[in-house]
Amino acid sequence: MSVQTGLVHIFNGIPFTTRSSTDLLTSLNDFQAREDDLLLVSYPKSGTHWLAEILKLLFSSKVCLTSPIEFGDVSKLDELKNITSKRIIPTHLSYGMVPTDLKVKKCKTIYIIRNPKDTAVSLFYYYRDNPNLPTIETWSAYLEMFLKGDVVCGSWFDHILGWEEHKNETPTLFLYYEAMQKDLHKSIRKISTFLGINVNDDEISEICKRTSFSEMKIKVEKEKSDPGPTVCALTSNKKLIFRKGTVGDWKNYFTTKQNRIFDELYDAKMNSCFLANPIQYET
Ligand code: A3P
Repeated sequence: MSVQTGLVHIFNGIPFTTRSSTDLLTSLNDFQAREDDLLLVSYPKSGTHWLAEILKLLFSSKVCLTSPIEFGDVSKLDELKNITSKRIIPTHLSYGMVPTDLKVKKCKTIYIIRNPKDTAVSLFYYYRDNPNLPTIETWSAYLEMFLKGDVVCGSWFDHILGWEEHKNETPTLFLYYEAMQKDLHKSIRKISTFLGINVNDDEISEICKRTSFSEMKIKVEKEKSDPGPTVCALTSNKKLIFRKGTVGDWKNYFTTKQNRIFDELYDAKMNSCFLANPIQYET
């Protein structure tokens, strides 16, 4: 396992950065959920910040978008307890590690999925630019780690498969990054219906405008001071999030051989995965 001392530790077989303390990870099941909590789940680099911004606008800021549940130390549980408004709680946790009470209380969940090749490239840049992650030598060494699940948050494949296995146990909306890129208006309508929020077409169009990649990137870059917390436990620096925001960037990185190995693993692992069907997976 390629872990760099001091930055990454393994918990339940999954690599976490030290920004997620062992104490907190051990105590997650003490978390007390509320019926109106909304869980926002993703594998890293799937469009979490984009979705979080859409949710904030849909709720007209009458909600508290918390930092990720796995970020920090054990004091996190008290911090969450002290929030009085509705909580939107982001996480990159696998299904098995999500606090039991969120499942028992059947809290609504939104899970965003991105095609794994673009996710891999996006995470490669995160490793390169994010001081909280270990140094990686080359794209090919990194891709091997990604395929083995030796990267932070573990295997992309296992993350999806874990949620697939339990997809009917809690009310969950599955969203796809590429579908959002193709028709954001339609995706926002889907989200608002799932959450029971009344918005008209003009309001949705306004949200589309304000959450375009360029608008979000410009907004963060303009902020001289700290642009506010991120929804990813791996960084507090929002400027690291908005890189390219495109579909198909993987084609600029994968060699023919790497692509074949990736496709073989994808076929083997995701063959009968229902959640994988809508993924815009390109070979
Ligand atoms: P790239 O690195 O491919 O550019 P996350 O928020 O889960 O960390 O995901 C980050 C990825 O989502 C980055 O991908 C980022 O550019 C992209 N992203 C962020 N905001 C976006 C937006 N408004 N529209 C499209 N993509 C966006």
